[in-house]
Amino acid sequence: MNRILIIAAVLMAAACNNPLPQERLTRNDARINDIIAQMTLEEKVEMLHSKTNMSSAGVERLGIADINYADGPFGIREEGQPNGFMSAGWTLDSATFFPTGSALAATWSEELAYKYGTGMGKEARLRGKDVILGPAVNIQRLPVGGRTYEYLSEDPILSAALALEYTKGVQDEGTAVCIKHFAVNNQETNRGSVNAIVNERTLREIYLKPFERAIIEGGAMSVMPAYNKVNGDYCSENEHLLNEILRGEWGFKGMTVSDWGGTHSTMGAMLHGLNVQMTGSNYLGQPVIDSIATGALTEDLVDEKVRQILRVRYAVEAVPADVANTVMTSQPECQQIALEVARKSIVLLKNEGVLPIAKDVKKIAVIGQNAVLKVQSGGMGAGVKALYEVTPLEGIQKRAGADVEVLYAPGYKNYARRMWGPQNLGPLETADITEYDPALAEEAVALAREADLVIFFGGTNKNIETEGSDRKDIKLPCGQETLVQALREANANLVSVLISGGPTDLQVLEPASPAIVQGWWNGTEGGTALAEVLFGDIAPSGKLPFTFPVKLEDSPAYAMGNFPDPNGAGGDLFTLMFRPDVLAMSPAERQAFIDSLPKPESHYTEGSLVGYRWFDTKLVKPMYAFGHGLSYVTFAYGDLKAKASSKGVKVSFKLTNEGGMPADEVVQLYVRRIQSKVEWPSKELKAFKRVSLAAGETRTVTLEVALDDLRYWNEEANAWDLEHGKLQLLLGAASNDIRQTAEVNI
Ligand code: BGC
Repeated sequence: MNRILIIAAVLMAAACNNPLPQERLTRNDARINDIIAQMTLEEKVEMLHSKTNMSSAGVERLGIADINYADGPFGIREEGQPNGFMSAGWTLDSATFFPTGSALAATWSEELAYKYGTGMGKEARLRGKDVILGPAVNIQRLPVGGRTYEYLSEDPILSAALALEYTKGVQDEGTAVCIKHFAVNNQETNRGSVNAIVNERTLREIYLKPFERAIIEGGAMSVMPAYNKVNGDYCSENEHLLNEILRGEWGFKGMTVSDWGGTHSTMGAMLHGLNVQMTGSNYLGQPVIDSIATGALTEDLVDEKVRQILRVRYAVEAVPADVANTVMTSQPECQQIALEVARKSIVLLKNEGVLPIAKDVKKIAVIGQNAVLKVQSGGMGAGVKALYEVTPLEGIQKRAGADVEVLYAPGYKNYARRMWGPQNLGPLETADITEYDPALAEEAVALAREADLVIFFGGTNKNIETEGSDRKDIKLPCGQETLVQALREANANLVSVLISGGPTDLQVLEPASPAIVQGWWNGTEGGTALAEVLFGDIAPSGKLPFTFPVKLEDSPAYAMGNFPDPNGAGGDLFTLMFRPDVLAMSPAERQAFIDSLPKPESHYTEGSLVGYRWFDTKLVKPMYAFGHGLSYVTFAYGDLKAKASSKGVKVSFKLTNEGGMPADEVVQLYVRRIQSKVEWPSKELKAFKRVSLAAGETRTVTLEVALDDLRYWNEEANAWDLEHGKLQLLLGAASNDIRQTAEVNI
């Protein structure tokens, strides 16, 4: 939306007595201005930086409570020491571990994203937290991305819809979100220094979309600028991102909180849109006071920043100290939400009649250490100390009951080196994670031979996919490829379940597996949900939120030679800071060390051809396409009726569940431009809906695309623009499974 549209929207909303979500933050401005008038400069500046590792200061004298923050996107993080992330050793801080980002996105359910947000918001309040450091909504640009599992999708429309509902859910519970990482935070390699170079159209249409909706429509109260630079400037001092777009165009009224260690200067941060330095006070502490004394900064600017912080402080009621932390953080109603999300996230990638598990299967061999691996902790900020976590093996054992014998063998040894802290001094070597263990494999094959069915658990783990580093490749680790082939030779009745957050290379596993399931890192009740799907209690209904390429080199940033950066050395600035020799440096030495690091760049020349947009446009066949996911039933799509109006496009059609059990289908509407002058990807997702149907039920489904969602960013006009003309509407069950088409004029 451009500025004029924003202003028009604000005026219209005010006229209808229905304030824009951001306007809710300004309700207390009169009171806030009175309070600011009573504050000393020192008190104001205390609010601009961390007080502890997870709080920033209020003013006790004036009854202003501190602001307490909590990671992260999938569960309220365990209480840490005031000065760092080490455990505080509490006993009531075990939280619900919700399915990770890509799993939530695989539900394609706005309703579940909202519920997920309410669960997070509720547990945050129980812990006395004001702000959740999440949702994490960056676009999954690289299959190897260390945070692919934290983020939602490669598609901006899907990411934006879920980011919006997550935000609303959290904030309706009286907790603020801190949506992250703003913006273009798509790689961990050199994340603390990389300059992402991206054109304005791509920025607007792809990378900013999830933030834009969560802020404008969801009223997100705080935003975390990312570690990286965008087009030359660090995100925490990026005039274009923070002042022009976020505050200027989107009307953001809340506060920005730098990523931990992601503030880089006093003047840059003060002038270009940062409110709170996390953590430390070397930039937004005493130097601010000194700069005011010399006239380089004004106290008015400090007042403005304090006002934005106080808006959040007063929009979220502080939890009294004697109320917080009196009960266990994880609550049954939130565990139930985690279960519902997990049930709808599991994606059936392939099924040659092996699933659901047949009634005559009496002996199951569960193979693979990922069947017993708990995935709640690890991954730095996104780790959760879960009250409990049902592993896949536990889920299967419980569901199988007394009639079915469940055998288990680890099959391979998971790579277990810690990625975090002083022990991790170098990049992760692929050699460390590809070890095939013949003895473990032999034991597994022996079990496979005597079983009626083999369920192989492959995939990655949180030492491989983690914040702080990207994967070197997407190969299945730990000798899993050799193992799955041996298992298949021993027993043709085999299901492979992938436990991972991002895509993996399935060139070997796919032909060896008559059935494949993407099982994700699926939270506290992950194993329960998985067993329900495998045994056919419920039909699988998740759809891929990203493309599985055949091989890594097929994916856009690789194919274009944009990643890995041919000139950039590896290493993450933030992680480097924990190296013993760096810890021992004086501040001046540390700065000199930072300055001496290479200045890496990431060129986004693939433009908007991210994920399936690339594969479709360049006619590259993926292993599994964006939006793909099978069921135990089939769905019939009736004729597509489409109508365009000044508001946008509306379609309707009849959807029938042709199977003998209740099932959900996620219907997807893509748009293709015909004879356009502007360059477009081959097709783009514009609307979707999860529809639940009883066995044999037919229902009319309606989908709407707002006119605004059909606009493109016109770089010459520097504004959103509409290209009139013909649109082809493509309705289907996946990006490569289009069932009905229609044409409209806009
Ligand atoms: C991560 C953030 C996280 C913060 C605090 C940073 O390393 O990038 O996502 O919220 O740490 O744990």
